[in-house]
Amino acid sequence: MTINVLGIPGSLRRDSLNRALLRAAVEMAPKGVEIEVAEIGDLPLYNWDVEMEQGFPESVQRFRDQVAQADALLIATPEYNNSIPGPLKNAIDWASRGGPDAPIKEKPAALMGAAGRLGSVRAQMHLRTVLLHGDLRVVQKPEVLVPGGDNFTSGELTSERYRDQIRRLLDALLTIVAKESARVGAEVG
Ligand SMILES: Cc1cc2nc3c(=O)[nH]c(=O)nc-3n(C[C@H](O)[C@H](O)[C@H](O)COP(=O)(O)O)c2cc1C
Repeated sequence: MTINVLGIPGSLRRDSLNRALLRAAVEMAPKGVEIEVAEIGDLPLYNWDVEMEQGFPESVQRFRDQVAQADALLIATPEYNNSIPGPLKNAIDWASRGGPDAPIKEKPAALMGAAGRLGSVRAQMHLRTVLLHGDLRVVQKPEVLVPGGDNFTSGELTSERYRDQIRRLLDALLTIVAKESARVGAEVG
């Protein structure tokens, strides 16, 4: 059985360090795990009127389907002004719509981030609060907080310390996925 993980980059930047974290995760994914990386740059800004009057725009529906079909999310966020970037919050807002049927509802998720000196710690604290609303099952440890600079070489994550943290983060995410599917299986009977 394949476990499908949806990687969500919080940065739209071409040479994004957070995209490099996701590339490292794709490369190191354990056997049986596939990580697809979503694009959130083409999602319009969330507008309740659009949702009510026209439904979900095409790019939004595509993203919501990707989230719904994934067994888990792997979010890589930069820190912008002590928080998460607007496009990431916007993507989460779109995926949070639908009440108990919202695509992100109770989804297992793991967080990591590359930013300045503190490696996105404040952004990840905010992100945890945001994800509480949809009852996501967020991995608590390890915290993967990567300061930019010489942890990257030619745009790729080369620090063995942080690569190892990502391996452990993926293992922790898989543990939550297994627990969640056992819980849901027990509820169904
Ligand atoms: C608008 C803006 C605000 C930022 N604010 C912070 C910040 O509050 N804390 C921090 O550590 N880095 C901050 N940074 C630096 C980014 O987190 C850092 O450049 C990161 O590598 C960007 O992610 P990316 O490489 O994936 O594009 C900021 C960058 C920008 C563009």
